[in-house]
Amino acid sequence: MHGKRILLIIGGGIAAYKSLDLIRRLRERGATVRCVLTEGGAQFVTPLSVSALSEQPVYTDLFSLKDETEMGHIRLSREADVVLVCPATADLLARMAAGLAGDLASTLLLATDKPVLAVPAMNVRMWQHPATRRNVARLREDGIAILDPAEGPMACGEFGPGRLPEVPDIVNWVAARLEEAPRPLSGTKILVTAGPTHEPIDPVRYIANRSSGKQGYALAEALARLGASVTLVSGPTHLPTPPGVTRVNVETAREMAAACQQALPVDAAVCVAAVADWRVEASDQKIKKDAGGTPQLTFLENPDILATLSQAAENRPRLVVGFAAETENVIPHAQAKIARKGCDWIVANDVSPAAGVMGGERNAVHLITSTGVETWPEAAKADVAQKLAERIAHALAESR
Ligand code: C5P
Repeated sequence: MHGKRILLIIGGGIAAYKSLDLIRRLRERGATVRCVLTEGGAQFVTPLSVSALSEQPVYTDLFSLKDETEMGHIRLSREADVVLVCPATADLLARMAAGLAGDLASTLLLATDKPVLAVPAMNVRMWQHPATRRNVARLREDGIAILDPAEGPMACGEFGPGRLPEVPDIVNWVAARLEEAPRPLSGTKILVTAGPTHEPIDPVRYIANRSSGKQGYALAEALARLGASVTLVSGPTHLPTPPGVTRVNVETAREMAAACQQALPVDAAVCVAAVADWRVEASDQKIKKDAGGTPQLTFLENPDILATLSQAAENRPRLVVGFAAETENVIPHAQAKIARKGCDWIVANDVSPAAGVMGGERNAVHLITSTGVETWPEAAKADVAQKLAERIAHALAESR
């Protein structure tokens, strides 16, 4: 971070007091920090403290004649290597997502040609509100890097995600963004499905499978690290959303299919989810034990998402990758699957209980493409994900 110029925009939330420590830590790492306070930000920290710690003038007013003659807001937005918004309040994120420019901070954010990083902090309900989720997803699509908030007790007395991450974590994250090499998947959009689906039997019961979602989440994370804008359509899992990934939660196969259609067009689609092949004709009411006899379940076939994406007449991704979980004859079954579904590649693995893949941390896969079969050595799911993400980057670059 040595010698980097950071324009720090301090939004108006209680976490703003931590920005004072952030200025010190960024400067300790050799960065120059110039600060802008929003009107709200100035309610929590004073321009004098910010100026003393940054040893730079502090900017607060879009219409300041003095600032405008000395610096000018366009220059201020460009004379930095990166613009860091911390804390990014719900209001500031909403204004950024909408492209508003009613004050100095939002004007700079609209006028800058530099990478923008945002560190949100707010009440848990505000963070989880659909409007904020929408704004965050939109900003990520616009290429803005957003650090997910931490979880824990909040100043307002509630508990949950929304806290500003610890200052050293923010500094490391900013440093990593600044040091990032050019990324091979920048500018591409990739859809990943992951996890199991839950198919309801009645309002309280469902059919599911043992997929943990780990491999799909690891892949989404690796693709995002290589610069892709990743939409992760996920069945129910207990996993945190990987950094930089837009996650859409679904329960059933039909919801997953609809969410995938919504995500189109994409450059590549990777179907890692263990989608239930069958759903049950669900009962509207809880099936009663004393209703007489054993209940009979009627099964209906679920849509095949991988086949639908592979065979789409319109918007077919340039690369469609399926996963094949098999318990025997892994390679022949996977080859037959490529032909049947019409996808480009299949990543095949042995999920017989002895292999310990489902729910485990490691995976041994075969990559089956039109040119043959590669057997990869057993590795952590994160390493399999990294290798597959690099292969996808290579294939997309070739087919451009
Ligand atoms: O046919 P099978 O379930 O073995 O195929 C597995 C592959 O197909 C996986 O990539 C899985 O995500 C995908 N699939 C799907 N929709 C289904 C069933 C499977 O996308 N309904």
